[in-house]
Amino acid sequence: MENKKFYPIKRYLEFYNHAISDLESFWEKEAEKIPWFKRWEKGLVWEEPFARWFVGGALNASYACVDVHMHSWRKNKVAIYWEDENGNTKTISYTQLYREVNRFASALKDIGVKKGDIVVLYLPMIPELVISMLATARIGAIHAIVFSGFSSEALADRINDTGAKVLITADFGIRRGKFVPLKEIIDSALKSTPTIEKVVLVKRTQEEINMEEGRDLLYHELLTQAENYTEPESVESSHPLYILYTSGTTGKPKGIVHSTGGYLVYNYATYKWVFDVSDESIYWCTADIGWVTGHSYIVYAPLLHGATIVMYEGAPDYPHLDRWWEIIEKYGVTIFYTSPTALRMFMRHGEEWIKRHDLSSLKILGTVGEPINPEVWEWYYRHIGGERCPIVDTWWQTETGGMMISPAPGLGPVPLKAGSTTLPLPGIDAEVVDDSGNPVATGIKGYLVIKRPWPGMLMGLYHDPVRYKEVYWTKFKGVYYTGDYAIKDEEGYFWLLGRADETLKVAGHRIGTAEVESAVVANAFVAEAAVVGVPDPIKGEAIVIFTILKDGYKPEADVKENIIDSIRKQIGALATPREIYFVEKLPKTRSGKIMRRILKAITQGVPIGDVTTLEDEASVDEIKQLYDEVHSMLKG
Ligand code: PRX
Repeated sequence: MENKKFYPIKRYLEFYNHAISDLESFWEKEAEKIPWFKRWEKGLVWEEPFARWFVGGALNASYACVDVHMHSWRKNKVAIYWEDENGNTKTISYTQLYREVNRFASALKDIGVKKGDIVVLYLPMIPELVISMLATARIGAIHAIVFSGFSSEALADRINDTGAKVLITADFGIRRGKFVPLKEIIDSALKSTPTIEKVVLVKRTQEEINMEEGRDLLYHELLTQAENYTEPESVESSHPLYILYTSGTTGKPKGIVHSTGGYLVYNYATYKWVFDVSDESIYWCTADIGWVTGHSYIVYAPLLHGATIVMYEGAPDYPHLDRWWEIIEKYGVTIFYTSPTALRMFMRHGEEWIKRHDLSSLKILGTVGEPINPEVWEWYYRHIGGERCPIVDTWWQTETGGMMISPAPGLGPVPLKAGSTTLPLPGIDAEVVDDSGNPVATGIKGYLVIKRPWPGMLMGLYHDPVRYKEVYWTKFKGVYYTGDYAIKDEEGYFWLLGRADETLKVAGHRIGTAEVESAVVANAFVAEAAVVGVPDPIKGEAIVIFTILKDGYKPEADVKENIIDSIRKQIGALATPREIYFVEKLPKTRSGKIMRRILKAITQGVPIGDVTTLEDEASVDEIKQLYDEVHSMLKG
């Protein structure tokens, strides 16, 4: 089913070429589509590797997302259809959202939050999360959301990196019919976060919780004193809108900083191009707002457009395997954006659950976060989209702020190919290069780079300009290094092949091997550990750990359990390994670097390849022995 010719490619390429020929004025035209308090003086100031867009312009994200709709019929439009796994619902109009944002912004001011302050949000998928983001932005503060599946230690690390004084959270999350005790997790995290002075708590259950006098405040009680209107703070275009932590190749997560002006312009433009959103759209993105997909394409982009969004709290397969299809039918969802991992899970269970529902409202289907296998793409196309809906496979990253390489039905472009993210979006100068930074020939694997800045580009890493330069701008001179492998085919289509660095994509979530390793070696009985990703039929990649125990310890069941426990405590359940192997030695280079390539080959039963850089000749034999050992374990 190659080349589904939905639209002529010519018009797309014309638009693309027009954009790339004069980037700055192209983006300035796009910038005119969102509301500014003051027009910018300069489209782009590029002091490599730092880009500032629409410099001198002033705006406010919450104004652009809600106030702007108060002047049109959209004030009565539904902004959010919220639903949880038990079918509890909330419908929030743009006017109601406006009111709630204003009131909570007033409450935040009352507890002393000011322009430039960082506020940490650790919240489940409830409307108060959206309200908190917009209220924070309204007063010029900066939100740093921590995914509510992260453990207390991961939360504490991120809070300490920001030095935040205020944390907004809830008593419980709800997943698979169980209460997730967020407040307990927070109380444990806050033992090691000296900067937090106030905790604002959304109370959503009747359960008793611990309240710390003077520190913990109830969201609904704060609102009783709040004003109905809070003046939106006018901020300069480069004022940070948020910080979002993501995994890198060291144990310490990177605080990605996004601007206000450039980021919003980029979100506005890409959302229209890729999803062809209109006032009739009912849009559902299944991501969690704790990740960048949720920031950009559940909250900012849809609200800028005055779109109606569906927001769902719960697991995809609970209480039934047709929970998602039920929601699509119920709300008449027209645009659906999800992950390959979820699709692979549904595919495994067959079409029976899908056939129970009328999915004919769907018009466009999207995927993100990891490569989608062509078979899964075909399945999605046929069984969810009824062979009617284009699939937009969107490649992007936390750092890019928005989609970068993707089909763009909103521009009327590009025949699709199952498994390819197709072409770069307008204004995006992407290339695949070899180790020396030269473009590779068609069909050859190389590194994906972006050659020119774009408005959604990160402004840097929070208080770490040195690491920012090192990670993204050192491998290849003058271009942004994505950390991904890709191939370009004879038609210029991009095929993404996974990470080229030591980070993993487990169920689409980015996890650093070094983060998991440090959680493993934190156990007193562990001498060394190495983590690799192995292909997984559902999650795309799964975590496998090789570990050496200290003398006197044996690999008994409780040792394994302790390791798993410590990973859950330090990172969260999302980093739970599929397998732990106990070994005597790890393959290392002469400079002591663990050769993950060899460990990966061992787990996959493929040839080990070149071992000339190994630490010593003796270990080659040991590796072969390890290979056999692992294989007998796998067979067993
Ligand atoms: O490896 C690429 C993969 O996800 C990485 C970015 O992860 P994160 O910052 O968590 O953002 C995920 C959501 C935007 C990329 O470097 N990735 C993302 N989208 C795709 C993808 N790989 C293949 N195809 C995609 N569509």
